[in-house]
Amino acid sequence: METMTNAITIEKSKTSKIHDVDFENLSFGSTYTDHMLVCDYVDGAWQTPKIIPYQPITLEPSAKIFHYGQSIFEGMKAYKDEAGKAWLFRPLENHKRLNKSAERLAIPELPESFFIEGLTTLLQLEKDWIPETPGSSLYIRPFILASGTGFHASPADAYKFIIACAPSGSYFSGKVRVLIEEKYSRSANGGVGYAKAGGNYAGQFYPTQLAIEKGYNQVIWTDDNNHEYIEEAGAMNIFARINDTLITGPTSDRILDGITRKSILEIAKDEGIDTEVRNITVNEVVQAAKDGTLKEMFGAGTAAVISPIAGFGYKGVDYDLPELSESYATRLKKRITDIQYNRAEDKFGWRY
Ligand code: COI
Repeated sequence: METMTNAITIEKSKTSKIHDVDFENLSFGSTYTDHMLVCDYVDGAWQTPKIIPYQPITLEPSAKIFHYGQSIFEGMKAYKDEAGKAWLFRPLENHKRLNKSAERLAIPELPESFFIEGLTTLLQLEKDWIPETPGSSLYIRPFILASGTGFHASPADAYKFIIACAPSGSYFSGKVRVLIEEKYSRSANGGVGYAKAGGNYAGQFYPTQLAIEKGYNQVIWTDDNNHEYIEEAGAMNIFARINDTLITGPTSDRILDGITRKSILEIAKDEGIDTEVRNITVNEVVQAAKDGTLKEMFGAGTAAVISPIAGFGYKGVDYDLPELSESYATRLKKRITDIQYNRAEDKFGWRY
């Protein structure tokens, strides 16, 4: 693996936008910090990253990102504890997954030092942007796009790795209602569903719009074959609690290897909760909702953390989930956020 030969250069912004931001009322991912990290891949190598003021980037109209969607991203957060110290959550997992996505999209892998040193150098500069408001954090968006040009449908010869950050509040406000998808698919065996490819999300927008028109917030994705299995919920992994067992689908070509997903599984086991990683059929979820054994469902992801599902629609029928006073969602969300915000011991060694 390449290592960085030169130190990251820093060009500081002459002014700061931080005083224009209402940290008490943050939306998700719509206000950006003063700086960003940019690292170019040219002549067959990743160049030394630079930190520069947050600004538009210039690309040629023939850049392959615009034509063939060659782009991947990660979602991460920086958290501030009560003493004002900043923390990341399992950042090496994000780096590993970025490179898995890179391989699938024929993008050159990014060496770990570029990712971690780039990230920590940027965050040291932006640490005042990490919100202290409860439930808020600094959402971090590392991404790679094909900046190399050409209308030939083949991988680009130049790329940009960028990290931009946005102080953010919750992704969803309140519980979500979801529609179990019967027609569209998000991914297929042999496809790119497991990668964090930009196009995976673009492909979700239209079916999600249709679901929103019907009064739902998100789509529950089912397998592309017979729409028989529950796979993901919008931009999150999905968990169902039937009786007292917490179930989530196995990672595959089609399901993203979510870092929140796998952390929740470990925490649940540690809490003594019965967990199963197996295919969940739509039929069993519908049946369990009918007979009252479907106690709860929730989505899990970096942006959404744990997002309880209030109910779902399937084949024109709506099913409501009970309001539990002691839900797994609340219990697991507390455990994971206590680790992320340094409010509790981190026996797993996940805080960074
Ligand atoms: C995240 O949870 O960080 C993601 O990357 C999902 C995104 C669509 C908000």
